[in-house]
Amino acid sequence: MSLLAKFERYPLTFGPTPIEHLPRLSAALGGKVQVYAKRDDCNSGLAMGGNKLRKLEYIVPDAIASGADTLVSIGGVQSNHTRMVAATAAKIGMKCVVIQEKWVPHFDAVYDRVGNILMTRLMGADSRLVDDGFDIGIRKSWEDAIQSVKDAGGKPYPIPAGASVHKFGGLGYVGFAEEVATQEAELGFAFDYIIVCVVTGSTQAGMIVGFAAQDRADRVIGIDASGTLDQTRAQVRRIVDDTAALVGLGRAVRDDEIVINPDYAYPAYGVPSDATNDAIRLAARTEAMITDPVYEGKSMQGLIDLTRKGFFPDGSRILYAHLGGAPAINGYSYYYKDDGASLPNRPQSAAVPISEPGVRESAPHDALPPLFP
Ligand SMILES: Cc1ncc(COP(=O)(O)O)c(C=O)c1O
Repeated sequence: MSLLAKFERYPLTFGPTPIEHLPRLSAALGGKVQVYAKRDDCNSGLAMGGNKLRKLEYIVPDAIASGADTLVSIGGVQSNHTRMVAATAAKIGMKCVVIQEKWVPHFDAVYDRVGNILMTRLMGADSRLVDDGFDIGIRKSWEDAIQSVKDAGGKPYPIPAGASVHKFGGLGYVGFAEEVATQEAELGFAFDYIIVCVVTGSTQAGMIVGFAAQDRADRVIGIDASGTLDQTRAQVRRIVDDTAALVGLGRAVRDDEIVINPDYAYPAYGVPSDATNDAIRLAARTEAMITDPVYEGKSMQGLIDLTRKGFFPDGSRILYAHLGGAPAINGYSYYYKDDGASLPNRPQSAAVPISEPGVRESAPHDALPPLFP
């Protein structure tokens, strides 16, 4: 029986997301492993969807029951999460206030006008730009926004960054693990590894609890995109423990079941390395699968690099969790105006002929020139 049977769920998604085989990407990586994607980026008709909707499905019933009239949340300027909270508020008929902090040292002229923030404004959210830098923890700007709704006579419902440290934030991705098991039964095989991007933590934490129930949580490879590994790992640990208790997993999750690889988060949260951009191009040119420079491009980079390094045994089937995020790419147009070889600070020798994949592993962190010296 589902670990989630006792929880109320407000449907915001289409239902189970498709699993898609990626044969051309698999071949480009040498053909020794087969790569599949679970398309949570295509999970809903709400403002282009993404991972937050799985989480919000278990949060909305509590928000409605609380009698609130305004969802209040926080993220960066190009936050997918605040877009999804704005979409949810519009769909359920609540108001929405979102704090958008300056989490990313990125200076594209239209960064605060396109993509996620454009859609957030379009859906009627009160989007407030704040100058504070990146931090996945609880923020004063968010607490101030909650207070401002009260001061104006409203009833706020607070949703933390990424919906992660919310008491129900981990539930949605417990459901992902159960969904994968059902789909594997239909496919007639099981995946050997799951690759997932991790920043605020509840996506991977939920998966860990769900896959722990199937005794394979250590096959979930988190690819850190926060660049603040210790904080993210501690937050994942906490959400795993809280969610495991909440769903009644019935056992403690061991530390070795929480796997997070920090090698692809450089140079900083929200800033893609040349290898990230190469990974984004490779997925786009082999499978027309669009990944973004903040999250999925980094987990794609991790998948590609680990495959080329031989981390996955031959014959492995790898499931890449595509969590959404493509709208942010509009704020990074300068990176993609050509094939990447002429990027500022990029030595010509480092240009990768991505039509010949597999020729090179991604450059080590310290070999890359700073993008923003
Ligand atoms: C597209 C995308 N991928 C991955 C993540 C990481 O998920 P989490 O914050 O639950 O770790 C996020 C949100 O932060 C996201 O928007």
